[in-house]
Amino acid sequence: MSAIDRSDTYALGRSAAETQRLIRQAQIYGPLTRQFFAAAGITTGMKVLDVGSGAGDVALLLADLVGPRGTVIGVEMNPTILDTARARVQTMGWTNVTFLAGDVRNIPLDDDFDAVVGRWVLMYLPDPVAVLQHLLRHVRPGGIVAFQENDFTYPPMALPPARLHQQVQQWTTPPSGRGGPDQQMGSKLHQTYQAAGLPAPQLRLDAPIGGGPDWPGYAYVADTVRSLLPMLQQMGLVTAEDVDIETLADRLRAEVVSQGGVQMLPIVIGAWARKGVV
Ligand SMILES: C[S@@+](CC[C@H](N)C(=O)[O-])C[C@H]1O[C@@H](n2cnc3c(N)ncnc32)[C@H](O)[C@@H]1O
Repeated sequence: MSAIDRSDTYALGRSAAETQRLIRQAQIYGPLTRQFFAAAGITTGMKVLDVGSGAGDVALLLADLVGPRGTVIGVEMNPTILDTARARVQTMGWTNVTFLAGDVRNIPLDDDFDAVVGRWVLMYLPDPVAVLQHLLRHVRPGGIVAFQENDFTYPPMALPPARLHQQVQQWTTPPSGRGGPDQQMGSKLHQTYQAAGLPAPQLRLDAPIGGGPDWPGYAYVADTVRSLLPMLQQMGLVTAEDVDIETLADRLRAEVVSQGGVQMLPIVIGAWARKGVV
C-alpha cells in the first residue's frame, strides 16, 4: 500500500466493505437521525442539501421527510459510493433525490435551499467553520442548518466495562492530529455554528444502546475496526493477529452476553439553527 493520501481527508477508506459498514451504521443510527431532523424542522415540501451523502442513507431519510413535493440534493466526493447511493434511491422509487459528485467546498450549487444538513461529515473537514460559511450562501434566509456528528469522548463501550471492548476503544480512537477525523466534532458544533455566523444552535444528544445476542452493534463495531484496519496497521498501531478481525464481532457479542450487560455505541450530537434573515 502506498503512503496515506494527505489530500483525502476521509480516513475510513473507500472499499466495498466500507460501503456495507455505512449501511449497517444507518440501520442503527437512522432512527436517531430521523428524530433529529424532525426536531430541526425538516418537513414536507422542503428543498434540502445533504452534504457528504456516502451510501445515501441520510438522503433516503430526508426523501421520506420532505415527501414527493420536496427535493433532496446530495453532494459526495467519492463517485464509487455514489453508485450505491443512486441504486438505493432508484430501488426505493424516489425521483426527487439526485446526487452530485464533487467536493462540497467548490462544486456549483443552487442558492435557495430550505435546509443544509449532514451527518458525520464536518468531522472529516479540516475547516468546518469555513465550510459552514460557504454552505450558508446556498441557504435561503430563515433556512435550516442541521448537522449531526460524533463525539468519541464516549467510544463504543460495554456496560459494565469489559476487556475486549476497552481494547477496541483504543483501536477506534487513534491518536488525534494524525490525519483522522475530529474526534470531538459533535461537542464543537455549538461553537462552530456561532463562529460561522449562525445563532447559538439548539442541541440534542443520542446514543444507541442494546444487548442480547441479536443486537447489531457488535457487528457494527467490528465493521468499523475492519475499515480502519489498513490505516491502523500502516500507522503501526496494531497487527492483524492483535485484531483477529474475522472473529471480532462474535467475541464482542460473547463478552456482553456472558455478563448480561449492554453495549453502548458512540454518541451523536445534533445541532440546528436558522440562517438569519437579512
Ligand atoms: C462517514 S461518511 C457519512 C456518510 C453519510 N452522511 C451517512 O451519514 O451515512 C462521510 C462522507 O462524507 C464524504 N465527504 C467528506 N468530505 C467531503 C467533501 N469535502 N465533499 C463531499 N463529500 C465529502 C466522504 O466521502 C464520505 O462518503
